[in-house]
Amino acid sequence: MIETNITKMFGLKHPIFSAPMGPFFTRELALAVSEAGGLGVLSNVNIVGTDPVKEHIESLEYLIEHTDRPFGLNILTSRNNRGVKEMVTEIPKIVMKNPKMREQCIYWLTSAGSSKILPSSKPFQELRENSEVKHFHVAPAVWLAQKCVDSKVDGIVCTGGEGGGHQSYERVSTLVLLQQLNKTFPDLPKIACGGFATGEGLSAALSLGAGAIAMGSRFISSKQSEFHEKYKALVPPGKPQDTNLYTGSFGPIRLFKNKYALEHPAPSSKEEMIAYEKSLTIEQMMKDADAYDRVYYGDTDTGAVLLGQSIGVINSIDDVNDIIERIIKEAETAINKNHAMLK
Ligand SMILES: Cc1cc2nc3c(=O)[nH]c(=O)nc-3n(C[C@H](O)[C@H](O)[C@H](O)COP(=O)(O)O)c2cc1C
Repeated sequence: MIETNITKMFGLKHPIFSAPMGPFFTRELALAVSEAGGLGVLSNVNIVGTDPVKEHIESLEYLIEHTDRPFGLNILTSRNNRGVKEMVTEIPKIVMKNPKMREQCIYWLTSAGSSKILPSSKPFQELRENSEVKHFHVAPAVWLAQKCVDSKVDGIVCTGGEGGGHQSYERVSTLVLLQQLNKTFPDLPKIACGGFATGEGLSAALSLGAGAIAMGSRFISSKQSEFHEKYKALVPPGKPQDTNLYTGSFGPIRLFKNKYALEHPAPSSKEEMIAYEKSLTIEQMMKDADAYDRVYYGDTDTGAVLLGQSIGVINSIDDVNDIIERIIKEAETAINKNHAMLK
């Protein structure tokens, strides 16, 4: 057993979270991760034809019906995201009214926008005052972590540039970011994210001041994840070099280098990225949005395949329970090995 400030905060058996992976569904994955003793997270689903508020509410109902364990949800607070205002007002109201949801849906993770939007919502304030609900926000750089602290978050998710999917313009690696954040905010609860898939990774994250890890790519290649089999099949043979940071209408994003990715620029600076993003036409933006639908239905050639460098250390598609148990065992071995070095 590994006990940390995060396992204690959320009443978890293991310091392992699933990372949110919108716009795709992660309901079954979240259920499996929570049931295995970690904390599963519902993604902000907004592929074409879905209503993000309705998807979250249906998933919340599904999870409380199928597990008694704690879980969480993600809201993308970007100005461009559909239904943000409704999500930060309507979902807290529903959770507040339902004692089982209020008890279990205790991890509210916001990302890709302002950390202030959720705590400014009156229904969320009421929920926070009357429950154990915690608010975390993704911080990919020290100056962004400061904004989270100013918004009075309960903790941060420290996501470095090697992670899969949506990224910040900052491109700081998880290794350096964790060391910076540990020095700057030593007492702030932290979840390390981006590049984790093994017990050695978990052990390193704990040494660097995090109380848990969150994993995206590792859980994509699990039996329970809702991702298409063709998507999962890219993970085990994948190498870190098979992914790269590109840009498009959704900002910086780490993608698997397929036909879709290679049609997008991979600029070397924040300024170049912003200039390209500003030049996009409505047609290009719509084409980008369609790429998520395409990959959802299995087109891993012209669809957007979001994956992190961690695919280089994932060797098989496994049951979520086995993934978590193996990581904990490996982490315990790594921690014991490190202790043995002390003379
Ligand atoms: C398919 C996919 C979709 C993602 N969508 C989101 C999202 O909706 N919200 C978010 O905060 N992060 C999103 N991310 C980033 C992940 O939450 C996490 O930071 C990343 O997967 C960590 O890197 P790893 O893949 O090496 O574990 C996404 C990542 C992937 C792979």
